[in-house]
Amino acid sequence: MTFLFSLEQQYLRWFKADFKCCLFLSASLFIYPGYGQPVSVQTHYRNGMVVCATPQAAQVGLDILKKGGNAVDAAVAVQFALAVTLPEAGNIGGGGFMAYRSAKGENSTLDFREKAPAKASMNMYLDASGNVVPNMSLATHQASGVPGSVDGMVEAHKKYGKLKWADLIQPAIDLAHNGFKVSRRLAASLTRAGDQFKKLNPGKSYLIKDGGWKEGDLLIQGDLAKTLGLIRDKGRDGFYSGIVAEQLAEEMNNGSGLITKTDLQNYHSIWRKPIIGNYKGYRIITMPPPSSGGIALMQLLHSVEKYPLARWGFNCDSAVQLIVEAERRVYADRSKYMGDPDFYKVPVDSLLRPAYTASRMANFNWNAATPSTSIQPGSFAGYESDQTTHYSIVDREGNAVAITTTLNDSFGSKIFVKGAGFLLNNEMDDFSAKPGVPNMYGLLGGTANSIQPGKRMLSAMTPTIIEKSGKLFMIVGTPGGSTIITSVFQTILNVIEFGQDMQQAVTSKRFHHQWLPDDVQIEKDAFDPKTRSILQQKGYKIADHGPSGRVDAILKTKDGYEGGADPRGDDTKMGW
Ligand code: DON
Repeated sequence: MTFLFSLEQQYLRWFKADFKCCLFLSASLFIYPGYGQPVSVQTHYRNGMVVCATPQAAQVGLDILKKGGNAVDAAVAVQFALAVTLPEAGNIGGGGFMAYRSAKGENSTLDFREKAPAKASMNMYLDASGNVVPNMSLATHQASGVPGSVDGMVEAHKKYGKLKWADLIQPAIDLAHNGFKVSRRLAASLTRAGDQFKKLNPGKSYLIKDGGWKEGDLLIQGDLAKTLGLIRDKGRDGFYSGIVAEQLAEEMNNGSGLITKTDLQNYHSIWRKPIIGNYKGYRIITMPPPSSGGIALMQLLHSVEKYPLARWGFNCDSAVQLIVEAERRVYADRSKYMGDPDFYKVPVDSLLRPAYTASRMANFNWNAATPSTSIQPGSFAGYESDQTTHYSIVDREGNAVAITTTLNDSFGSKIFVKGAGFLLNNEMDDFSAKPGVPNMYGLLGGTANSIQPGKRMLSAMTPTIIEKSGKLFMIVGTPGGSTIITSVFQTILNVIEFGQDMQQAVTSKRFHHQWLPDDVQIEKDAFDPKTRSILQQKGYKIADHGPSGRVDAILKTKDGYEGGADPRGDDTKMGW
């Protein structure tokens, strides 16, 4: 089945690579027995669609849609299925953000980001000399924020869900209890992490296999199935109190961690007012702080709006130059002005004022790269990792959900809660441990994003929904740490400016600039040799990087919903 599935992905790649092939394939429906149900290479669907990081979770989401569940029901089921089938990033021990737009046009965003425990403090990662202790915010029990995912799903379901909660969790329990066959990618990723799992988890054997994992091996997660069973039966209380809370507190005690049962009881996700902006008549609904994603995305769009990108063309030197210069300036602002709005007054309106963005672009020079040293955050009155995950869902009525969720690093802190079988996040690294010291993504921060008890760490996650003429147009988002914002930005431009279809827009090579370090990080062959040389002559430092992000998106077209599943991962689109 895995083979057949990868065959479908391969067909899709050929499909995009060769127009003649495209005509041939779209004229003939290629059907084979896929995961449980016949799957075809049909590209457009009328009744709904799920695009997410694993085929198993996509199937779970599609089944829920077919049973009459709405997009939020499917999202809840996908979230828990990803916690089983994508242990690197799918989670119950992490957090995330949701953007929602109902078929009637109502919109909302849900913040289920982790919070610093009550015992956290500003200098908790500094040694006696005031230096950041390496890895302390990444691979220790103190690296974890209080998890938000379970509460987030409970709240989303309470407000919008239609099907019974238990029926949404059961597919994940079945996957954990009965096991599923690991893909080549997951086998390699689990094997790579094996030594760390052993080192950080004495007396536990989760996700470890002697001799390493192979594609097709069955992964059974019995303790995780039990924990999910409690969540199925007791909802929020199945995680934030009772046995699981005891197990988590015990795990913290054994490892000098900070999260207490009181922290768990006090955790609540928050409905926030979305950032809503306009780009050439498209209405962008996106995530507000404590994610920097929405504001930064709008600033980027404002920065490039007046230029003829469509005429210049995809990844040509002028387009790249403009995009890079916009990204440089926006990330400088991010370092100073963005943090948890419950603790720090983020100057949202000022940052979003088009005149402000225009003033930031005023010293952009076509002849030479602006050195980042000459750019500071404005004034007014990685590194790549693929281990967060994003999913986009639309249902039969047209309700749309975009969720990005994470443990931060791949497998989070790599520390499991003993007995409960789930991984803890290392989201505390997203705080600024010390001004001027970059986090794992090379991002800088200061007071706005300093550690305080109960505060949420700044994020780059950018789940986004776009309307055109008052109707749903696109659902988009991605993992990728600091590159999230620029990947979402470029995917949107690929469709709106460069005329790419959804799959092509997701597949297209991406590049990234984040102010500091002052280099343009590019995916292999993102620029042709001529473009590369023109940019280098103008002073742009180009750094070759691995794959950037895993964008999963849906576009509404006249022929139905078209998905874009990122070929950089096991990402899968399924519709009906
Ligand atoms: O919230 C954030 O911005 C980061 N914790 C996201 C991490 C991430 O995307 C990792 N994987 N690619």
